[in-house]
Amino acid sequence: MSTIYLISVFIHVICAAFWIGGMLFIPLILVPGIKQQPNRILLLYKTGIKFRFYGWISIVILFITGFLNMYFRGLPFTLEFFTNSNYGKLLSIKLGLFVLMLLIAGIHDFYYGMKSIDEMQQTSNHKYKLMARWTGMLNLLLALTIAFLGIALSRGGF
Ligand code: HEM
Repeated sequence: MSTIYLISVFIHVICAAFWIGGMLFIPLILVPGIKQQPNRILLLYKTGIKFRFYGWISIVILFITGFLNMYFRGLPFTLEFFTNSNYGKLLSIKLGLFVLMLLIAGIHDFYYGMKSIDEMQQTSNHKYKLMARWTGMLNLLLALTIAFLGIALSRGGF
């Protein structure tokens, strides 16, 4: 097993931990922790923007190291592999969920997240806040499923 392959898997796992960890940290620690703060909306906004920046960097790195893992494992990049072998089919499901996660993360980070901050500052409505919460939870669920599939892949599939 080459060192470069191990480094690629290491970076892949650290980025997965960062992405999932941030999605757990904001609703479980940050939001309840700053509930009594008068400037909580600003804190939430600033933290959200910072996490969005590093979160998307980690997504790009996950994508690159994911394909590097395939390359170092000697897996073929052919349609036949992705559709006929068990390992390839599992990888296709993982990639499909990854694309879905990207779409939902985009909607959450660049639309509902921003709108909900405006809403909290201007009105007492909860429409965007609810949508931001639901898209965030769905994304967490998707990321956890993708991580589970990754762990199965590393051990040869089901
Ligand atoms: C949110 C996105 C992703 C997450 C959370 C994630 C997470 C993980 C985790 C936790 C592992 C298990 C590592 C181990 O147990 O050793 C893994 C392995 C793997 N992932 Fe991902 N991954 C993501 C995206 C991708 C993408 C886009 C690809 C592209 C092909 C990919 C390809 C792989 C491969 C091939 C492995 C097996 C590594 C090996 O054993 O050589 N992943 N992933």
